[in-house]
Amino acid sequence: MRGRRLLSLYRGSPSAVRLHTALRWASCPFPAVEAVVPPRGRILEVGCGHGLLSLFLAMSGPARRVHGVDVDQAKVDAARSAAGRLGSREAEVSFDTVARGWRPHDRVDAVVIADVLYLLEPAEQRRLLSACAGCLGPGGVLVVKEVATEPAWKFRWNQVQETLSTRVLGITAGGDGLHFVPPSTMAGWLGGEQLGVESRAVDRGYPWPHHLLVARRPRPAP
Ligand SMILES: C[S@@+](CC[C@H](N)C(=O)[O-])C[C@H]1O[C@@H](n2cnc3c(N)ncnc32)[C@H](O)[C@@H]1O
Repeated sequence: MRGRRLLSLYRGSPSAVRLHTALRWASCPFPAVEAVVPPRGRILEVGCGHGLLSLFLAMSGPARRVHGVDVDQAKVDAARSAAGRLGSREAEVSFDTVARGWRPHDRVDAVVIADVLYLLEPAEQRRLLSACAGCLGPGGVLVVKEVATEPAWKFRWNQVQETLSTRVLGITAGGDGLHFVPPSTMAGWLGGEQLGVESRAVDRGYPWPHHLLVARRPRPAP
């Protein structure tokens, strides 16, 4: 039901955008991501693409103020068009284009990054995660959805698809190659940012090795 309303926001978009968002909805466990995002407050999505996840977060939690950013102007335009089809009280969501190498600075309650880091060199992934962690106050959460490197058959299938998307079809703005960092390595980076990290597979029922990291800034002891 939520998915149907979400995808209906793209009805006036070009058919390539409608197809892409429908496939994305079917192939990524967005409900599992949504479930770990705070129900209210300022939420930043880095690498929001066509805005599907940002819109889903905003529609699922009307007390959330969601802001999505991406380096791809055309995708941000599509996200804004979709947001323009929301009812005035349905959700609060906005989008901006940012330059490559952009870093967040403002304090937020949560940062969400879904399937973006693998497009960046590992050192750049770590710098971006560090900047995101720096935006979190006590109780703030950094949610990272990437694909794991195992099980091997799911990882191989994912590599074929991503190579097609970035190198052949040009659907995803990459540029630096594909860099799948194991979740345990990322969890170590996030722990180094003084965040408490939960790590779990969310790939059940999907042929992709979806993995979720939920990194929380601890509240000071009373
Ligand atoms: C596979 S898409 C995922 C989009 C969205 N997060 C989702 O889950 O549907 C990856 C997105 O990351 C964006 N991207 C790549 N490098 C980026 C960067 N350095 N900063 C922000 N966005 C970036 C791409 O333009 C693309 O829209």
